[in-house]
This record gives sequence, C-alpha cells and structure tokens, in this order.
Amino acid sequence: VLDEKIEMKHNYKPSIKLHKAGSLKTQLANLFEESLRLMAPEELDVNAAIAPCQNPTFGDYQCNNAMGLYKKLKGKAPQFNNPQSLAEAIIKNLPASEMIDSCSTIKGFINVKLSPDWIAMSVQKMLVDGVEAWAPRLPVKRAVVDFSSPNIAKEMHVGHLRSTIIGDTIARMLEFSNVEVLRRNHVGDWGTQFGMLIEFLFEKFPSGEVPSDQAIGDLETFYKASKQRFDGDPAFKEKAQQAVVSLQAGEEKYRKAWAHICEISRKGFERVYERLGVHLEEKGESFYNPYIPRVLELLDRQRLIKESEGARVIFIEGKKIPLIVVKRDGGYNYASTDLTALWYRLNEEKADWIIYVTDVGQRDHFEMFFTAAKNAGWLPAEKDKYPKVSHVGFGLVLGEDKKRFRTRSTETVKLVDLLDEAKTKCKEVLVERGKAAEWTEEELDKTAEAVGYGAVKYADLKNNRSTNYIFSFDQMLDDRGNTAVYLLYAHARICSIIRKSGKDVEELKESGKIVLAHADERVLGFHLLQFPEVVEEACTTLLPNTLCEYLYNLSEDFTRFYTNCQVVGSAEETSRLLLCEATAVVMRKCFYLLGITPVYKI
Ligand code: ARG
Repeated sequence: VLDEKIEMKHNYKPSIKLHKAGSLKTQLANLFEESLRLMAPEELDVNAAIAPCQNPTFGDYQCNNAMGLYKKLKGKAPQFNNPQSLAEAIIKNLPASEMIDSCSTIKGFINVKLSPDWIAMSVQKMLVDGVEAWAPRLPVKRAVVDFSSPNIAKEMHVGHLRSTIIGDTIARMLEFSNVEVLRRNHVGDWGTQFGMLIEFLFEKFPSGEVPSDQAIGDLETFYKASKQRFDGDPAFKEKAQQAVVSLQAGEEKYRKAWAHICEISRKGFERVYERLGVHLEEKGESFYNPYIPRVLELLDRQRLIKESEGARVIFIEGKKIPLIVVKRDGGYNYASTDLTALWYRLNEEKADWIIYVTDVGQRDHFEMFFTAAKNAGWLPAEKDKYPKVSHVGFGLVLGEDKKRFRTRSTETVKLVDLLDEAKTKCKEVLVERGKAAEWTEEELDKTAEAVGYGAVKYADLKNNRSTNYIFSFDQMLDDRGNTAVYLLYAHARICSIIRKSGKDVEELKESGKIVLAHADERVLGFHLLQFPEVVEEACTTLLPNTLCEYLYNLSEDFTRFYTNCQVVGSAEETSRLLLCEATAVVMRKCFYLLGITPVYKI
C-alpha cells in the first residue's frame, strides 16, 4: 500500500499556493504534511513537527517526524529499515516548492535550508501586502482578556501597572492574529468596604448633597480615614455594616453614593490608561452580581456545592481548603463573582479563550475556580481544548534594594509618579542633546513621552513575566543594551537612512527587487520572515518577552547588516533600502504590539 502511495509522486501536484499568508513554520508544515500523508496509512495523523534549527549551519528548520512515524509504521512498511531511510523518503515525496533550497538528513532528522531567492521574494511581498496579511491565524474566534482590574478607592499600584501593560500586549497580539478580543476591566467595585466608604461620605457631607470630586479628592486618603473610623468606633462599624445591607438592597441613596465613589476612581484610572494608550472596557465585579444566585443554583443542582462550617463551598481535589462561594454571613466573595463572570463569558459572550492577568500570588484562586468550572462541565478536562482558560501570572516589581518596590515613606509607589518621572528624565536627555533648539516644545514632549513610557513598558515586558524584576530608571533609560530607548533610536536611525537616500521607497517596493547575496542580508531577511511565527508563539505561550527578544535580535541583525553592507551609494542600493524599510516596518509592528509609540527622528 505504501509503495503505491510513494509511486503517486509523479502525477502529484502541490496543493499549496506559494506565498500564502502564514508563518514560515506553517508553510513548511503544509509541505511536509503533503509528503507525510503519502507515507502514513490513513488512520495515522500527520502533524508535521517543524522547529527552527538549533544550529544554523545545519539549516533553517528541522522536521522531526521520521522517528515517530517509523515507530508507528513498525511491521507495516518493511522497506524502511530505520528512521533515516524513512526521512529520505519523506524528502523525496515533498511537493515541488520554491521555498526549499535543499534538505539533508542526519539520523532521521530532516534539516531544511530555505532558498534565499524565496526569502527575498517573500520579504518584498510582505512589504507590498503589508505585515497584517502575514498575521498568524489562531484557532480562536473570540477571547476575553481580563486585565488591569484595579480596586475602587485604592490607588493603582505597580502590580496593576504590570497587569495593564502585559494584558494590553496580549490583547494587541491576539487582535493582530485575527482574534476578536473583549478587553475587560474587572474592577473591584463591590464588597463590604463600600459600607464604610458610604457611611464616611454621609458623615463628612451630612446635608446629603453630592460632593464634587475635589471635595473627596484623594480617594485613597478617604479610604484610610474611613477605615480608621471603622476600626475605632463600634457605632460607626455597625452603621457601615447596615449600609452594606442597604446598598445590596438597592436603596437609592446608597446606590447613588456608591456610584459617585466609583465615578471618582474611574476618572483617576482613565487618566492612567490615556497616558499609557491602553483601551479597556469596564465590567466590574458589580456587573456580575445579579447573576450570582442563578449560577450558584446551577452548581447546586449538580451537587457541587457543600456545606462546611456554616459556609457554602466547593471541594477541589488536591486542595486542603475548599473554594468558598457563599460566606458564613450569606455574602458573596471574590470567588463567587469570578465563577459567575466565567459563566457569563462562556455563555453570554461566547468566548473561546478567557485570559486573566494578575500577580502569581492569585494562582491558587484561579486554579480553584478553573477546576470547579471543569467539574461542572463548563470547560473541557483536556488542557488544550477550547473553550480554554489561562491565568497569566506575573512576579513582583522590586526596588533597587531588591525589596518590594516602595517609596521612602514606605507607601506603595503611585503609578502616575513613575510615568511623570520617566518622561521628565527623557526630556532632560533630549534637552542635553540640544534638541530644544531644533524642536518645538510639543515635539519635545511627544518624544519624551514615547521614549519614557515606552521604556517603562519595555523594561517590564522583556522579562519572563513570572519572574520578579527590579525597577530601575538608570537601566531602562540606557540607550545601549536591551531597552526601548535603544530600540526606538535604532528605528529612528533606519528611518533617517531612508530619508537621507532621497529615494521614494513606496515606489521602490513595486519597481525594485530585493536580492539577498551577502550572508548578513540573508540572516536579516530570514529573521524578518519569522515575525508571524514569533507572534504566534507569544500568543500561544502568553509570553510577550518572546516578542521583545525577537525585536532586540532583529535590531542586532540589522546593525550587523548595516555595518557590513553599504546601503546608500552602493550598487545594491535599491535592494538594501528595501531591506531597511522592511526592518523598520516590522520593528514598528513590534512596537505597536508592545504598546510602544515609535519615534522617527532623534
Ligand atoms: N481586582 C483584583 C486585584 O486588584 C484583580 C482582578 C483580576 N480579575 C479577576 N477576574 N479576578 O487584585
């Protein structure tokens, strides 16, 4: 049977259209799957295992299917007496493709070298079509990214900064990959603390008039003062607890006070989002409140909810403490809300993938209610099946003393102060460099913001998110090394090379031709084409640092190319200018996905 299939090769036409959008890995996988399908009996699935070569002297990519297939075919295909002979047959059966220059095998591993002409053509195609046309396609239609999610009446701290930055990047990468993303701000706008806040508000403004924002001013101070009253005065405490009941019963006066407090917080949060260029849609904890009883009833009917020490809980296998869904006093908590929000996102919003971005400290909470949802049959038991939930945990931000990041007064650091400082420092550098004489005040401000905020974001994103990192302005604002400042300047320099050439690249894209003759040109071209699969990987693993690594390596590859290959005035000028443009385009797309605003001159 197998021999017959191999014979089919001669009248076999490739079904892959060349230059079809998609990552290199996908395109290669498609080719190899054509061949593998001919080799394997129908019942075997033939997912091509394609990975970049560890050692580039062997090739660009590796296909590792021969070993596995050999084992599966044992006895059924006596003509293959080892994985190596099978690997050779896989190569022989590959459909004709301009993509592949050559293949070689070692011990059943297949190494693939891509054709430089094909790489050159594809880079040019990417320029002409736009990078979007090359975006990866994920098996997900709609995703919820639950991120930022600060708490009302409390300041957004650096932890929320991490969630905002990481969540925004994940949302951008998914959006780029053709996923519809619901960006959700799961604001902490409900809970017993509102009793004391409202009661304190009434106490300070007894006439019942709604105070202006200025009158409350700093909500965090207001929160602390009300907490003091709550802890120190039993009569106040009693009233505050009564206020919670009135609020939950929906009494007008209480609802109004609650809404007012939320509104003040919201304005503060909005200011931060605006500066960071982050867009979110608020569906706070209170939004899910009306749905909680129904969802708990569903779980109750499945007999998942048990009575324990007066509370109502869900026992989770392997966990000593159960998940409390109704507290002893009958109130709901963080977990009841999260279970309900999950139910809503699956059933009302029809999300295939729900992603939560919080500090790693909350891992247990997420694991518990994810398991509860699996037990209820809301989610498949298998990890990689959809609908899927993922907790994107991140580490702490540390001060330069390696302790938790705090200011001298031991208060947690305020987010806006950090952004202000980053901008100020960047502006100082620009002024030192004499830009004040060349640029308008607005240009100075815009550049300082792009570089300053970009530096803060990049310093966060470049680390594997699960680790702690040290917040250091000196490090992040260094214009050498792996920083946004370095990368933004590198990009601006490329733009200036193109500008100074006096050529119209838009026109060259169509009339010129990219040729990758020099080794450093080939490396750069190949790296450019890997962009879609890097985004795809960063989306799948939810690790934005993968994209940062790619961007940094790309700029290193560019530097090597630019050092060794003369651009302006050389015989290869057109091709090399197009390579410059392609690099700038891909860098800008990376910046965009990382939430960083590019600068064009320095
Ligand atoms: N408000 C929470 C906090 O500040 C984060 C909420 C995260 N989202 C969620 N669905 N639990 O820690």
